[in-house]
Amino acid sequence: MPRRTKKAIFRSLIMDNNFDVIVIGSGPGGYVCAIRSAQLGLKTACIESRKTLGGTCLNIGCIPSKSLLNSSKIYNKAINEFNSMGIEVNNIKLNLSKMMDNKSKAVTTLTKGIEFLFKKNKIIHLKGKGSIIDKNTVKVIDEDGESTNYKTKNIVIATGSLPVSLKGLKIDEKNIVSSTGALSFEKVPKELIVIGGGYIGLELSSVWKRLGSKVTVIEYLDHITPGMDEDVSSEFLKILKKQGINFKLGFKVTEIKSGKDNVVVGFTNNKTEVKEKIKCDKVLIAVGRKPNIGEDIKELSIKLDSQEKIEVNEKYETSIQGIYAIGDVIDKGPMLAHKAEDEGIAVAEIISGQAGHVNYGVMPAVIYTSPEVAQVGKTEEQVKKANIKYKVGKFPFLANSRAKVNNETEGFVKIIADEKTDKVLGVSIISSLAGTMIAELAIAMEFGASSEDIARTVHAHPTHTEAVKEAALAVDKRPIHF
Ligand code: NAI
Repeated sequence: MPRRTKKAIFRSLIMDNNFDVIVIGSGPGGYVCAIRSAQLGLKTACIESRKTLGGTCLNIGCIPSKSLLNSSKIYNKAINEFNSMGIEVNNIKLNLSKMMDNKSKAVTTLTKGIEFLFKKNKIIHLKGKGSIIDKNTVKVIDEDGESTNYKTKNIVIATGSLPVSLKGLKIDEKNIVSSTGALSFEKVPKELIVIGGGYIGLELSSVWKRLGSKVTVIEYLDHITPGMDEDVSSEFLKILKKQGINFKLGFKVTEIKSGKDNVVVGFTNNKTEVKEKIKCDKVLIAVGRKPNIGEDIKELSIKLDSQEKIEVNEKYETSIQGIYAIGDVIDKGPMLAHKAEDEGIAVAEIISGQAGHVNYGVMPAVIYTSPEVAQVGKTEEQVKKANIKYKVGKFPFLANSRAKVNNETEGFVKIIADEKTDKVLGVSIISSLAGTMIAELAIAMEFGASSEDIARTVHAHPTHTEAVKEAALAVDKRPIHF
């Protein structure tokens, strides 16, 4: 059937529809919100301008980066650890284009999975760029430039975020790249400079270091992973340095000059003002992300905060009634995919008259390096600042039998509990399995557990999770194995 005819039929099918909800954006916030809305019986559409569903996370973020992290970890293990484990493999060779294909396959499978879920839940997928005309009308311009207006009772903005660059610097996605470019290099860079020692900077430094690049991270602060527990941040830095990643902490990048085949990065020590320069083939700019605010939001004067994030109330409603917003684009919580997902569920439930809710106090955060770093609840610094009297229990993986067997002895579990009530206030973990292990602690905290509750819960032996039980015992100074 010709595309125009198909389009006309599609439009006639939905033009007489008055939607209950139109979600703009199909990232983890948007697509989950659409599915939950449909589950609740709301007539739902989701607009996406990208060719595939899933937003930044599935297409150019969490998912492709985790594929490369996994492949590069195995490659690195094959080179450095297989032999000592009695696995003799000759001629280990990197085939980067195959590794990239493997990544693309994973992305395609998952984005197609969302298409399937949309069909299953009878969600109308509107392809094109959406903008809000008024609180009951959304315009979609498709790839042929054709514009259609759709009517709806509620609108959910889930447009996500975009990478931030340095002042006056253009990211060309060739030699000066954001995470998008760094997930698709055609060759392993000989020398990679990473600006920013946060989530993106450290995950992608790990990938390219393992695949053979010389990597230097330039970070403005005197520590990496701002916002994480300082104990964790300093131990993590030691581990990454041991892996061969170079760090220039407390440096401000002052110039980036792009030549034909290389880039010169100039940076200045914040304290001494001593200047340094490195010539490299690629520079990754990983200095944060900003909310993706369309012109329509500005024209409608939807209220933004000082960082240009959309202000929402406890019901995720913007300054215009009936227009909601969730995920990276709002002034609540960290820019994390799972935060957006839970907000998507909450707002769908609120729109349908239920009591949707997200607990920002128990929001796990994970850096998927090797070992992984995970945190939930408060850091020791935050507890101190809040003048809360607290106890700490720490247990190293060096004393955990399973970690020892697996040669994964780096890291620890650190539990912070209220001195008087013993209630768990925060947990940090550095471990090969930290991202998975943190879920136990999130559940414990959601149920208001004390460290004694965790200490008295049977943990299977031999598992990494025994370190959680031991850290809980250590809060009361009675660990068994340390
Ligand atoms: P980030 O906020 O995590 O880290 C940015 C780092 O850049 C900070 O340490 C900051 O001090 C530093 N910085 C800022 N300006 C600088 C300058 N001019 N020179 C040197 N350093 C500078 O941001 P990132 O890594 O870009 O990630 C963006 C967002 O994406 C974050 O909010 C993060 O939560 C999310 N994300 C989450 C992941 C996960 O859950 N594993 C993975 C990737 C991203």
